[in-house]
Amino acid sequence: MSIRSLGYVGFGAPDPAVWLEYATRIIGLMPARACAGEDWGIPMVPGSGPASAGSGVADDGTVYLKMDDWQWRIAIHPDAENRGIKYIGLEVEDQIDLEEQVAKLNEAGFPAELGTQAQAQARSVTGIAFTRDPSGNAIELFYGPVLDRKFASPLGMEFLAGPFGVGHVNLLTSDHLEDAQNFYTRVLGFKLSDYIHFGGGNVANFYACNARHHSVGLLKVGGAIGIHHLMLEVTSVDMVLQCLERVNDAGIAITSTLGRHVNDNMLSFYMRSPFGFEVEIGFDGRLIDKDWTANQFVEGDIWGHRGLDPETIARNIAAMPQT
Ligand SMILES: [Fe+2]
Repeated sequence: MSIRSLGYVGFGAPDPAVWLEYATRIIGLMPARACAGEDWGIPMVPGSGPASAGSGVADDGTVYLKMDDWQWRIAIHPDAENRGIKYIGLEVEDQIDLEEQVAKLNEAGFPAELGTQAQAQARSVTGIAFTRDPSGNAIELFYGPVLDRKFASPLGMEFLAGPFGVGHVNLLTSDHLEDAQNFYTRVLGFKLSDYIHFGGGNVANFYACNARHHSVGLLKVGGAIGIHHLMLEVTSVDMVLQCLERVNDAGIAITSTLGRHVNDNMLSFYMRSPFGFEVEIGFDGRLIDKDWTANQFVEGDIWGHRGLDPETIARNIAAMPQT
């Protein structure tokens, strides 16, 4: 079996509370009703609910955010050293699938091991395993996430998630792109959905694990590594524009203007999130099926998206706050 979805993502930030404010007041995500691993208490018994009481903030300061029926989708951990991605959670089908994936990873030369029950509970999933991609990103395979439903955006936003997953993460791979592509496609079973070759040896490749055009993108832009952006997809063009209005009102830096991508057809804009990497808010992304074949493009956009040329991307990466 192959990966079913990009299930969850964890980031590091010096002050997760700042990210909570950004996520709830600008994007419209909801603080998790209970933090990952937290005791839910006894249903219907007054006062016995989760200790975090819907604040989304765990005892250690980690912030958990909800965007659909899943208990949480995005976590921001206190970390002054690593302000980028801490782990990427990829959903598999069940315990048998998890064990098969671990065996396959080890056979392919990527050390992987099954996690304990406690480690699974700490992510609010039923079973978990750990490995790393060729760029060193921590990859967690899991099955059986906790679904607590009752998503209600504080800003009336609705996200296209569920079986399609969180959205997508685009990772900067520097010279690891070919190895990373082999890891995601040959080992984990992602499908190359499209690729763009820019001038100067800059490359952007896109990989699907379900009907979403891509859940992972791999970028070679100069020598940079880490995460370039996290994309969250909403269900109307108005929600994109309402978010853009909030971003402008708050004085948050727009790193790419409104535009439509040529590959996944996403109508979107990009902004600088607190402490570094970019967040793309999009609508109308392309869904693909098993008959989809990859196309090569020579430019990224049908229109707009000023700021996504390799030179500006490299300049924006260099301008990210450094630890
Ligand atoms: Fe994107």
